[in-house]
Amino acid sequence: MSDAASNCLLSMRGLTREFRIGGGLFSPAKVLRAVSDVWLDVPRGRVTGIVGESGCGKSTLARLALRLLDATAGSVIFDDVELGGLKSGELRELRRRMQMVFQDPYSSVDPRYTIREALVEPFRVQRIRLTAAEAKSRVEEMLTMVGLSPHLASSYPHQLSGGQKQRVGIARALAHKPSFLVLDEPTASLDVSIQAQIVALLEYLQRDLGLTYLFISHDLGLVRYFCDTIVVMYLGRIVEILPNAVAKPRHPYTKTLLDSTFEPDPSKRRHISRLSGEIPSAFDLPKGCAFAARCSHAADRCRQERPEMSDAPGHRVACHYPLN
Ligand SMILES: Nc1ncnc2c1ncn2[C@@H]1O[C@H](COP(=O)(O)OP(=O)(O)OP(=O)(O)O)[C@@H](O)[C@H]1O
Ligand code: SF4
Ligand SMILES: [Mg+2]
Repeated sequence: MSDAASNCLLSMRGLTREFRIGGGLFSPAKVLRAVSDVWLDVPRGRVTGIVGESGCGKSTLARLALRLLDATAGSVIFDDVELGGLKSGELRELRRRMQMVFQDPYSSVDPRYTIREALVEPFRVQRIRLTAAEAKSRVEEMLTMVGLSPHLASSYPHQLSGGQKQRVGIARALAHKPSFLVLDEPTASLDVSIQAQIVALLEYLQRDLGLTYLFISHDLGLVRYFCDTIVVMYLGRIVEILPNAVAKPRHPYTKTLLDSTFEPDPSKRRHISRLSGEIPSAFDLPKGCAFAARCSHAADRCRQERPEMSDAPGHRVACHYPLN
């Protein structure tokens, strides 16, 4: 195995997911391609960020990566195992090593469960029996790991703040000591000051436990702060992969995203939708570059021919006229 291959924990190969929408007696169903031909290697022990506007396919890609959703085409390889070929029992076992943290901390904890019950549930799902003493010590360990007091074990979710609930969501994801976490906008529903605390916790856990993260956000400023590699998506496709946080964007779309996030206070940032030009409908993508209608550099070739991803290692870009 080459160094690059052994360094890669998860690999997406031509991943595509379509959704059929509507369709009735007199109208055919429409097909929406939420993720299109995504090739991506996620390096072990590093933080890979995925950034793009709402609806560009980030959550769909996250769910495909863990096979919480089946692909229409393509495959996911996790540590040399192709997820598509696994039976449900094998997949359940592998899921101990790959977990997801969701945006909404409310969705990760059932309001009827105490925090203790919420933290023991992952073991029940995996059919691991814990004695009462084991459960108590595991719950205490998990709460401490995410910076919460073990006293909170008997609380109900409504007694916790949003930040505390998200810490419980992270603790649940860590229950089986996974090596890979997909974090789908884990701080998006929290106040800015609490966001910083959760990001600090995630940074600490990543380093301390040697975790591999796929970190999803619509906030390029946050992704540049937190991630080693930055993957930019537009309408279901990867348009740029920046090898590090200080690399200068070469795709006009990434440049626009960056310009709109330069203001450190997110509440004062210009919203990306102020870009001129319409976002094409995901049902009816143009044959050329999907960004052409909004791109100030667009030329005839851009409207005729879809730019392919450059295959040079390191900084990769899908644009006919990348910026220097
Ligand atoms: N189950 C589904 N059925 C039909 N369409 C779906 C489904 N899930 C996602 N989509 C569509 O796929 C596209 C991508 O959605 P996705 O949720 O992956 O985007 P996203 O980048 O995560 O957006 P956001 O930033 O708002 O979370 C959208 O057009 C969405 O409406
Ligand atoms: S291919 Fe053309 S339209 Fe698309 S981003 Fe590059 S310059 Fe702009
Ligand atoms: Mg999403």
